Amino acid sequence: MITTKEIRKKYIDFFESKGHAVISSASLIPDNDPTVLFTTAGMHPLVPYLMGEKHPAGTRLVDVQKCIRTGDIDEVGDKSHLTFFEMLGNWSLGDYFKKEAIEMSYEFLTGAEYLNIDPWKLAVTVFEGDDDAPFDNEAKETWLALGLPENRISSLPKKDNWWGPAGQTGPCGPDSEMFYWVGEEEFPPEGSNVATDEDNWMEIWNDVFMQYGKQTDGTFLALDQQNVDTGMGLERVVAVLNGYTDVYKVDSLYPLVELVEEISGKKYEEHTLSIRVIVDHLRAATMIMGDNLGVAPGNMDQGYVVRKLIRRAIRHGKKLGIEITFCTKLGEKVIDIFTDVYTEVEKNKDFVLKELQKEEEQFSKTLESGMKEFEKLLKGFQMAFEKTGNKITEISGKQAFKLYDTYGFPYEMTEELAKENHLTIDKKSFDEAFEKHQELSRKGAEQKFAGGLADHGEMSTKYHTATHLLHVALRRVLGEHVEQKGSNITGDRLRFDFSHPDKMTPEEIAEVEYLVNEAIARDYPMSFREMTVEEAKKQGAIGLFGDKYGEMVKVYTVGDPSGMPHGNPEEDTFSKEICGGPHVERTGVLGKFRIKKEESSSAGVRRIKGVLE
Ligand code: ALA
Repeated sequence: MITTKEIRKKYIDFFESKGHAVISSASLIPDNDPTVLFTTAGMHPLVPYLMGEKHPAGTRLVDVQKCIRTGDIDEVGDKSHLTFFEMLGNWSLGDYFKKEAIEMSYEFLTGAEYLNIDPWKLAVTVFEGDDDAPFDNEAKETWLALGLPENRISSLPKKDNWWGPAGQTGPCGPDSEMFYWVGEEEFPPEGSNVATDEDNWMEIWNDVFMQYGKQTDGTFLALDQQNVDTGMGLERVVAVLNGYTDVYKVDSLYPLVELVEEISGKKYEEHTLSIRVIVDHLRAATMIMGDNLGVAPGNMDQGYVVRKLIRRAIRHGKKLGIEITFCTKLGEKVIDIFTDVYTEVEKNKDFVLKELQKEEEQFSKTLESGMKEFEKLLKGFQMAFEKTGNKITEISGKQAFKLYDTYGFPYEMTEELAKENHLTIDKKSFDEAFEKHQELSRKGAEQKFAGGLADHGEMSTKYHTATHLLHVALRRVLGEHVEQKGSNITGDRLRFDFSHPDKMTPEEIAEVEYLVNEAIARDYPMSFREMTVEEAKKQGAIGLFGDKYGEMVKVYTVGDPSGMPHGNPEEDTFSKEICGGPHVERTGVLGKFRIKKEESSSAGVRRIKGVLE
């Protein structure tokens, strides 16, 4: 059996041998980027470097990145979509381009000491070209030169063979995707390819050639720096190498399947969908909560996604007839599986298990009160029947929506109970009420993201620097326990989440504002130096630390960069923080900082919204 551990290692070793520096997985919660809720691909944390910032580890990078894709949530339950997954990636930041990238991919896929895949079982796609960018002839020629038969190469449009940007603007370009044969027969027939036979080919790797920057007006401009961004889905590749088409059979998922079988007494073969949903959702929820910037279940943003994942898993648990609380059991197993790869999950274990337990208990109460409401509804129907002699056989859309909206009762539960009681639901009017509700929340979300960052506009760079000042000011005023829990910047404001148990007093707020404004008035220079994580820690830098020994990071200093203060150290060096940038050159350009709001974000975490005026 080929394991995820072996493939992670092979991938890293291969690209290290090709001159790539190994970097740690970034957090699942993006830092300073309001365009996405989660890190959806390995390229996400690297956007500033793809746009031209210098990366401290060099121009060739390799990593294993934790990713969350919530867009696929409705497809979870099939054999290959996962909410949480690991992405193996190699990057060229203005270093090699198409030809070398494809050659390296091919060598890793087919090389005897690497994945050793029979080339006959591979098919690829390239970008067919449109008004924005031409047909990717270079990619196709490279594949042909490597020996791929022409009829295994499909040319497809932008919707298939173009990557990015995640936000409205940002780096993007044509890509070339690699697929593995998963059809019934052992080998694909001559001439089978992705365009003609989509279902029998599983995508395992994507080489993106980032040569354009998408502008706010929707046009594409060539970037000064040509980059390569690749992504290989770890679970998928390990599955196919073992001859499985079902990703849940791999070693980072199957122990969870077995645990659900044990808890429920039901077989995976007979209850595949529910078991997959439980496994996928609790794995994802655990990894989000166990992240360095871990988020608890809540009603907003990432917290809302965590809540939805857990609740959906519980509902499927009920379907399997599980009567005990089971989420923490799964959570513990997930932590066991990943403790060696992502050490933060072990560190955050108590938090994760406590939150899982709390959410399961709370949701059980919601389900109970929803059931009571449903019974009241039934009683009402019965009374009406006794009074009028007319039997009501349909639950109105309004009634179903009230159960959903007021009691948080999932529609699927209403549907199931209706069926048990031989009732129908006016689904059409429920959907209308639901859509109206969705539209309102979508409008809210659009407004929230209207600022758009990703292009690293001038204002957002200023807010980014202001965030560093705020972080230090909070630590000076409230204490060293203050740690960044999240940061989100638009062109209009900064939002900073940090650990602190109490509401801030007006005096504390005023003092923090004063310290930030004083740092602005001093017009400190901003500078960065590259160093190892160990050196950064030694220098007392704050911020998120990777755990790869010797990994190079950028440390931004506000104030005297020499670290040799003349006179009062507090005046000479205001802050040192690990960060990718970009920042303003001097703090004086920031203007005046004001805290507009200080509120609770989740248990033990406060949130500040601040503006520059
Ligand atoms: N960013 C590319 C992807 O996620 C590699 O497919």
